Amino acid sequence: MPEKIKNYINGRWVGAASGKTFESRNPADAREVLGVVADSAAADVDAAVRAAKAAYPGWAATPAPKRGEILYRAAEALIRHKADLGAWVTREMGKVLPEALGDVQEAIDMTYYMAGEGRRLCGETVPSELPDKDAKSVRVPVGVFGLITPWNFPVAIPAWKITPALIAGNTVVLKPAEETPICAARLVKILCEAGLPAGVLNLVCGFGETAGEPLVCHPNVDAVSFTGSNAVGGRLSVLAAERHKHFAMEAGGKNPIIIMDDADLSLAVTGALWGAFGTAGQRCTAASRLIVHTAVYDRFVAQITERAGRLRLGNGLHSKTDVGPIVSEAQYHKVLDYIALGAREGARQILGGPHKKGACAHGYFIAPTLFLDVRPTMRIAREEIFGPVVCIFKARSLREAIDLANDSPFGLSAAIYTQNTHHAARAERDLNTGLVYINAATIGAEIQLPFGGTRRTGLGPREAGGRGGALDLYTQWKVIYRDFSGRLQKAQIGETP
Ligand code: UN1
Repeated sequence: MPEKIKNYINGRWVGAASGKTFESRNPADAREVLGVVADSAAADVDAAVRAAKAAYPGWAATPAPKRGEILYRAAEALIRHKADLGAWVTREMGKVLPEALGDVQEAIDMTYYMAGEGRRLCGETVPSELPDKDAKSVRVPVGVFGLITPWNFPVAIPAWKITPALIAGNTVVLKPAEETPICAARLVKILCEAGLPAGVLNLVCGFGETAGEPLVCHPNVDAVSFTGSNAVGGRLSVLAAERHKHFAMEAGGKNPIIIMDDADLSLAVTGALWGAFGTAGQRCTAASRLIVHTAVYDRFVAQITERAGRLRLGNGLHSKTDVGPIVSEAQYHKVLDYIALGAREGARQILGGPHKKGACAHGYFIAPTLFLDVRPTMRIAREEIFGPVVCIFKARSLREAIDLANDSPFGLSAAIYTQNTHHAARAERDLNTGLVYINAATIGAEIQLPFGGTRRTGLGPREAGGRGGALDLYTQWKVIYRDFSGRLQKAQIGETP
């Protein structure tokens, strides 16, 4: 029996006002309907925003350590539900179970981390230039947040956004990706049952045009955080800017791994496989460009081709599966279109393509795909494909490799495999991305540091982390000057000693 997934508004589970629904299906076997989901529109968004606005004064006035206590309880509840929630991530999104459990773990880590922020949320106390006057800054909440989250980390990314928003005293309306509403609903239920007052966290399921855009445009939504495609992010950023809303987005990558002639080659191949084909390449941080020194190019290509060809595709719940399906039919066709485009552009495909064999017949499977003879100007080398598709380039030197790596509209993550400390130091300095990995793949960011990128990847403060990361999005500064001199004092205009 499919799950019935409703919206969660003001502490109650309710269907869409229109009564409309849509289906959530298992990408490993699309015949299986997992959920029948509220297909929300502007009226539902409005009800959720109203609830969030009404709950805001009470939540903002709740001491941050008390908000933190609720998040601690939520983190503990997430631990108790980890196995169940992880299995839902695999069923609904497709990633293999160990990765799905990692997705939930990332949410747990973030929830604990943000719970702790309840006792920090520090501002500054600085000396005033005038006597009998003090000066300090405090972090205050922004208001009602609209959060729009993707399907590739259906538990972790909502948690990345919800928990800093809540610890800072904001209230939230979450619009999760239409591909993964069951995961979102389960997460929201666990968080709310930990003790969030009604209206503090609301869920509205549905599609981008009918539910996401009304959320961004709603006059009572003060701020928006979006993770997803570059095209949608660009559009939402305009809608938000026209309405003078706080806005942040994280929207894609085309992440390179440089493999130098002095690299531990077997480690580099292992890392490249994990970076490129983990989550079937459906990560913003996935490695999609491998830049290999000419001296080791042939050996590297031979090894990665052999090992990528051995990866087993299948249902992510089975322990022998290495690579799960693509999340949806639309995404499957998008990736296949890019593979066809690569051939038309003149790149040489040596592995991969659609995979419909045996138990994979009814799912959206694409085998690890490798392209050689790729020119940096080709669309497959520049655009985010978000699937298990990798372009392999040659470079004659570190300089050439770094220039190729930086020649991208995106700047999320980059990696280098080398045993030469000078190469590592130069790459660390010169790679123009938000994340740099030395002797590790492009994926696997930890929550205690800011996550995000340069150039077209992102806009606004970074995700995750604390100060310097998420808290800069979810709080705003208030500066307080207190004059206890009892007379008129003028800053900048007093006498200089
Ligand atoms: C994403 O790909 O959208 O660093 C997020 C990583 C994960 C998060 C990825 N911790 O790969």
